[in-house]
Amino acid sequence: MIKVAPSILSADFARLGEHVRLVEEAGAELLHIDVMDGRFVPNITLGPAVVKALRPHSGLIFDVHLMIENPDLYVEDFAAAGADIITVHAESRTHLHRSLQMIRQTGRRAGLAYNPATPPAGLEYVLPLLDLVLVMTVNPGFGGQDFIPAMLPKIRRVAALLEAEKPEAWLQVDGGINNATAPEVARAGAGVLVAGSAVFGAADPAQAIKELKEAAGSGPGL
Ligand code: DX5
Ligand code: ZN
Repeated sequence: MIKVAPSILSADFARLGEHVRLVEEAGAELLHIDVMDGRFVPNITLGPAVVKALRPHSGLIFDVHLMIENPDLYVEDFAAAGADIITVHAESRTHLHRSLQMIRQTGRRAGLAYNPATPPAGLEYVLPLLDLVLVMTVNPGFGGQDFIPAMLPKIRRVAALLEAEKPEAWLQVDGGINNATAPEVARAGAGVLVAGSAVFGAADPAQAIKELKEAAGSGPGL
C-alpha cells in the first residue's frame, strides 16, 4: 500500500493546525516536516518548537526531514518535540553511522536521504540502523520544483537492495511528486510519496491525496 506524506512546506503557515488536521482526515499516513537552516540548503523553515506545537493536534507519523548542517546537534531536540522519524542527509555528515545511531538511541525511527547527485553508496553498511531511505527527486530547498526523471534508476536500485536485505524499511521519494509522476515512482519501488504543492496547492487537498494514491496504484505492473 502506497503511503502519502504531505509536506507542510507548501501549507499555509498561518493555518498550520487546520491544514494538518485536514490531511489527517483525508487519509495521509505521515506528515512530512521540512527543516532547513539556510546553510545546507538555501532556505530557512522551522525548528523543534513548531513540531512540539503541532504534536498534540495530530496522530500522524511525524516525518522530520533535516536539511541542515551538523544534524547531530538537533536530533535530541526533534525527538523530544515529537518526531517519529528523523531523516538526515548522507551529504551532511562524515560520520553518518554515528548520526543514525544517535537517532536510534532516542527511540525514534531513522532515515537516510540522498541528494540527486549522490549515489546510494555504502547504504548496505548502515541498513541495520535504517527504517527509511529517502531518494530526493529534486534538489532540496524549495517546494514546487520539477521531478528529475534520472532518479528513477536510483529508486530501482535502492528498492532492490531493500527488498533483498531490509524489506521492512520504507523507500520514500520527495520532490515533484504529482499524479503524473506518482505512477512512475511507485512502479520503480517507492512506497512513501512526499507531496507538497500537489496536496496543498490543490483546490481540494483531501481529494488530491486520494488521487495521488489512486495514481500510484494504477501504474502498469502493479
Ligand atoms: C524540498 C522538500 C520537499 C518539498 C516537496 O526540499 O524536501 O519535501 O516540500 O515539495 P513538492 O512536492 O512541491 O515538490
Ligand atoms: Zn522533504
